[in-house]
Amino acid sequence: MYLKKIKLHNFRNYENLNVTLTKGINIIYGENAQGKTNLLESIYVLGLTKSHRSFIDNNLIKKDEEYLTIEGIVNNKKLDNKLNIYIDNKSKILKYNNNAIKKISDYISLVNIIIFYPDDLELIKSSPQIRRKYINLELSQLYSNYFILTNEYNKILKLRNDYLKKINKGISKDKNYIDILTGYLIDKSIMIYKMRVKFINKINLYCENIYKDITDLDGFKIVYKPSIPIDLKNINLKDYLKKEYDKRFEYDVKVLSTTIGPHKDDFEFYLYDKNLKYYGSQGQQRIAVLALKLSEIEIFKKYKETTPILLLDDIFSELDDKKKNNLLKYIDKNIQTIITTTDLNNLDIKLIKKSKLFNVSNGNIIKIKEVKLDE
Ligand SMILES: Nc1ncnc2c1ncn2[C@@H]1O[C@H](COP(=O)(O)OP(=O)(O)O)[C@@H](O)[C@H]1O
Ligand SMILES: [Mg+2]
Repeated sequence: MYLKKIKLHNFRNYENLNVTLTKGINIIYGENAQGKTNLLESIYVLGLTKSHRSFIDNNLIKKDEEYLTIEGIVNNKKLDNKLNIYIDNKSKILKYNNNAIKKISDYISLVNIIIFYPDDLELIKSSPQIRRKYINLELSQLYSNYFILTNEYNKILKLRNDYLKKINKGISKDKNYIDILTGYLIDKSIMIYKMRVKFINKINLYCENIYKDITDLDGFKIVYKPSIPIDLKNINLKDYLKKEYDKRFEYDVKVLSTTIGPHKDDFEFYLYDKNLKYYGSQGQQRIAVLALKLSEIEIFKKYKETTPILLLDDIFSELDDKKKNNLLKYIDKNIQTIITTTDLNNLDIKLIKKSKLFNVSNGNIIKIKEVKLDE
């Protein structure tokens, strides 16, 4: 799939913008603070309804304005589809081909986006919560039912936690009710575990080779770390989990929350037995995240029969020439890629030659060069 056109109104520092992209490689260059990241962010929001760098939607609205709109034409399997987002300080309206979409789950899997940005290595360095959020988003792009599943899970989890608090305070004491909630929670958990395990297994089919391609090093893998050891082949997994929740009941009441389950899972990145979170260099961490994301391209190709849109925000300045070139092998004209840079010298001349080029300055974007079709 690829983004044909994007139209912004009051998004960050863009008052009005109307850009036609190529389905191959697009390069946006310009000085700092001109709107490069903002443009990528708008594409991310168009596809995934939320920003990758701000929790607060209001920050996306141009200063002193009341609302923003984003419109995009996305071509997928030869068909053009229109997406619209409207955001003001009270509401967010999503439309697909002019029809309002009520459920985010129906929307979020329509456009597939993979973003690479300088803070990427936070995915390894920071807390498990960030990694869970990431995996959840990726699985939601792949399967709309995963999004629904995690939403349902979170609702039941909240009910359980609220009730644990009531028990703690002596307001309630119905263990039966907790058991019913725990039962629902376990059913959903098993489905989430299964989807996560499958996803990580799929990633591992590709990421070792990709990591090796970029660095010449073997032994890279991603390891799923559920909060309790689960064995999906265990025919009594449900009973096993039930016992684990029971064992922890008193403790959960004491700490006022459910202390096991998919909301406590983690994912780790290894080079052989070296956990890159603790023992990896910045460079190794950066490539690990690249390898993960490049593996996802293969998964989108295979399971959604389409290529995702790649957003590369100023990542080339961080890599040495050899790694840059190895990475570029994965970026070809068959995947729409939107690259930002402050300095065209950071990019290979061959890449520039086959790209559509834009210059951004203070919230205005002008086309500098079309793609030459014969290249
Ligand atoms: N809500 C907003 N309204 C107006 N301007 C904004 C808003 N949010 C950020 N900006 C401006 O956008 C610019 C940064 O754009 P950004 O895309 O991050 O720059 P870069 O080109 O370096 O990637 C800054 O000048 C900042 O003041
Ligand atoms: Mg930027």
